[in-house]
Amino acid sequence: MKAMYENALKRIDRIPPDGLKQIIKNLSAENSIYEAALNSTLDGIVVCDLEHKPLFINRSAEKIFRLVSWTQEFALWEQLNDDNLADFFRKALIADENVLNREISLNRPGGTRIIGINISALLSDGKISGNLIHLEDITDRRRREAQLRRAESLAALTTLAAGVAHEIKNPLASIRIQLGIIRRILEKNCSKKTESIFHNISLVEQEIDRLNSIVVDFLFAVRPMDITLILDRAEEVVDEVVELMSHEAEDQHIRIVTKIEPDLPDVMIDRKNLKQALLNIVKNAIAAMPDGGVLTISVSVKNDELQIAVSDTGIGIPEELMAKIFEPYFTTKESGTGLGLTITFKIVKEHNGEITVESTPSKGSTFTIHLPLPQPEQKSLPPWEDGVKVEGSHMEE
Ligand SMILES: Nc1ncnc2c1ncn2[C@@H]1O[C@H](COP(=O)(O)OP(=O)(O)O)[C@@H](O)[C@H]1O
Ligand SMILES: [Mg+2]
Repeated sequence: MKAMYENALKRIDRIPPDGLKQIIKNLSAENSIYEAALNSTLDGIVVCDLEHKPLFINRSAEKIFRLVSWTQEFALWEQLNDDNLADFFRKALIADENVLNREISLNRPGGTRIIGINISALLSDGKISGNLIHLEDITDRRRREAQLRRAESLAALTTLAAGVAHEIKNPLASIRIQLGIIRRILEKNCSKKTESIFHNISLVEQEIDRLNSIVVDFLFAVRPMDITLILDRAEEVVDEVVELMSHEAEDQHIRIVTKIEPDLPDVMIDRKNLKQALLNIVKNAIAAMPDGGVLTISVSVKNDELQIAVSDTGIGIPEELMAKIFEPYFTTKESGTGLGLTITFKIVKEHNGEITVESTPSKGSTFTIHLPLPQPEQKSLPPWEDGVKVEGSHMEE
């Protein structure tokens, strides 16, 4: 294109007016394309001549500089309304050196913006004819990088904490065993003097169990979850949980009632993890009824979901605490870890399910796990293919 215009320039005297008109039209059309392209890019672009006067400032640069108007008559820095920015460009352009990846913070109404600046020589026909300034608003990128760094250091910290928690578990188990041995030796040589020691041993055992449940819950909450969903009978998991908790319930004068709808469909579950999720809810329900009561677990199909509802006739949850109960470490119990419902929530989410709570203080609470019913294509999968491996995720920040 350029050669064509140079040719035309050489024989300009011989070009008829119509021809000239056409050439100018072409030139103008071409110019509009370049201008449109430069104005459409999100990067700011400024071209200055050798005297540092702007020849061109694209829309994005106008926006970054907050320039309402500009002229080719004065140096760029004389037209900038921010003192820091003006000072920077005056020094940089006069020094006549390339500037690479300089960052400048600008105070803007919505908050500070970080602008990345590059200045290079503008070369045309092998000669330096001015400067090319490239501006980029890197605020969001910097913010994302900072977020990523925070997430990475949190993940590293979690791994470290999980490592420590894991290391605590083994000595704790051996302390528990040794204590059992001491108890048995003392039982053989029981006398009036040793009687009170049993009480102390029980206290130590209780504390060890508490420490152990903190460590176990913590590890469960922070470790990536290893969940494999397969089509299985959720109601059997309910039966297992009821059997596991029946003694504890009986001791606390709690009657367990199960209402399981007949002919329930199989759903995509991971038995071990769903059991843990349900166990945490049932343990809470039992703890909510210190003077006894009724624990009702019902399994039914409603609105395209399998619902497992656990109701207690216990103390209930005050309205203002409702939003907090799933938060890690939130507990109202003297020896609670506040991780039970966090873990339950995480497991239910990994099942693509939901958990809802209804509660009336001093009447009782109902926790419901909603599991999606399998889609028709899942139902038809042969048993060895319907395992869905879910990659574990870390606990939310
Ligand atoms: N069935 C329930 N009835 C009353 N309060 C409950 C019930 N389930 C949970 N909560 C409240 O939610 C809190 C958090 O429960 P959870 O995460 O299991 O931790 P923890 O049991 O260690 O306290 C409990 O301390 C309690 O205040
Ligand atoms: Mg709990």
